[in-house]
Amino acid sequence: MSRAILQVNDLKKHFTLAKGRFGKEDTVVKAVDGVSFDMAYGETLALVGESGCGKSTTARLVMKLLDPSAGSIRLADTDLNQLRGGALRDFRKQFQIIFQDPFASLNPSMRVHDILEEPLIINRINVAERQRRVADVLKQVGLSPDHARRYPHEFSGGQRQRVGIARALMLKPSLIVCDEPVSALDVSIQAQIINLLSDLQRDLNLSYLFISHDLSVVKHISDRVAVMYLGKIVEIAPKDAFFNAPAHPYSRALISAIPRPNPGDRARRQTLPGDVATTVNVPGGCRFHPRCPFAVDKCCHDEPLLKPVGDGTSVACHRRLELPLWQEAFQDPNKLSPVAEARLRLYAARRRERLNAVNL
Ligand SMILES: Nc1ncnc2c1ncn2[C@@H]1O[C@H](COP(=O)(O)OP(=O)(O)OP(=O)(O)O)[C@@H](O)[C@H]1O
Ligand SMILES: [Mg+2]
Repeated sequence: MSRAILQVNDLKKHFTLAKGRFGKEDTVVKAVDGVSFDMAYGETLALVGESGCGKSTTARLVMKLLDPSAGSIRLADTDLNQLRGGALRDFRKQFQIIFQDPFASLNPSMRVHDILEEPLIINRINVAERQRRVADVLKQVGLSPDHARRYPHEFSGGQRQRVGIARALMLKPSLIVCDEPVSALDVSIQAQIINLLSDLQRDLNLSYLFISHDLSVVKHISDRVAVMYLGKIVEIAPKDAFFNAPAHPYSRALISAIPRPNPGDRARRQTLPGDVATTVNVPGGCRFHPRCPFAVDKCCHDEPLLKPVGDGTSVACHRRLELPLWQEAFQDPNKLSPVAEARLRLYAARRRERLNAVNL
């Protein structure tokens, strides 16, 4: 058996929005467009990126809630594409999902006891074992057995997310996909839920695919970080390497946008030029090139592949070997080295030229 609990290979999900008429092409959303990554047992991999970059679609593919357009997903060395019917249902016990909005994901007309018991009934587990498991799991997530009699609306937001976590734990999964699990909660409650997830991971050896657009949260919980941009992973790196020396220009921009307590640091923020692109109209070449201060001609034509750059980091960027220059630029965008400054001017001019050419 391999050390990976999850192996995702060249996964794609394209949604056709409109059929092309009169010889025109179909309008297709390339929500996930060739995503590959592995996860080790007990690991937390964070998936980050702007709204609409394909994080939730990746999560739904991994959970088999959607069928992929292409690519494969192996969970614990089993190819999910090969599983159907009863075999898939049996296998499903091993992976669960926690959603952002505990209000929407819990049935309001069911008591917590019934919500938690439901997956056990589906899996034909006997009554005595069901009672025991409901009480045990409520305790594990910091609720009391009395809470089982309540309805979801009788809980606070944080408690409701605890119920969502309890439901995910009922079948003793090995992998939990957490899709923005704390985004809807107050900051103080966020910390409690993150701590709970960390404790559960330690006690139950869980693996988390942790989706978030909040890098402050990701910094607390993840072992590695994967950055998505328009349906593709552009960087995957161990957490410390990612936060200390992000390798992709897009990762740098994301990190520099994290709010800092010291307002004097505002000068270090890097704002990305250009508009946020969409997965309907993916630019050719490197899909980040229209917003990248480091783009060269090659970036407009050739799509860069995800390649290792050492220390467990892989990055999809033609200019990945020029990292030290970027690092300097990133640390204080107002004090660029003369070389960096000249290059930035050059790329800005090239971008203007390109824009002018389009406008003509
Ligand atoms: N069923 C669908 N049909 C058509 N397009 C879809 C469908 N589901 C998702 N999309 C599109 O795919 C793209 C990726 O969506 P997705 O929900 O995966 O993004 P996300 O990264 O989770 O964003 P957010 O941070 O806002 O949750 C978006 O452009 C979205 O509109
Ligand atoms: Mg989402």
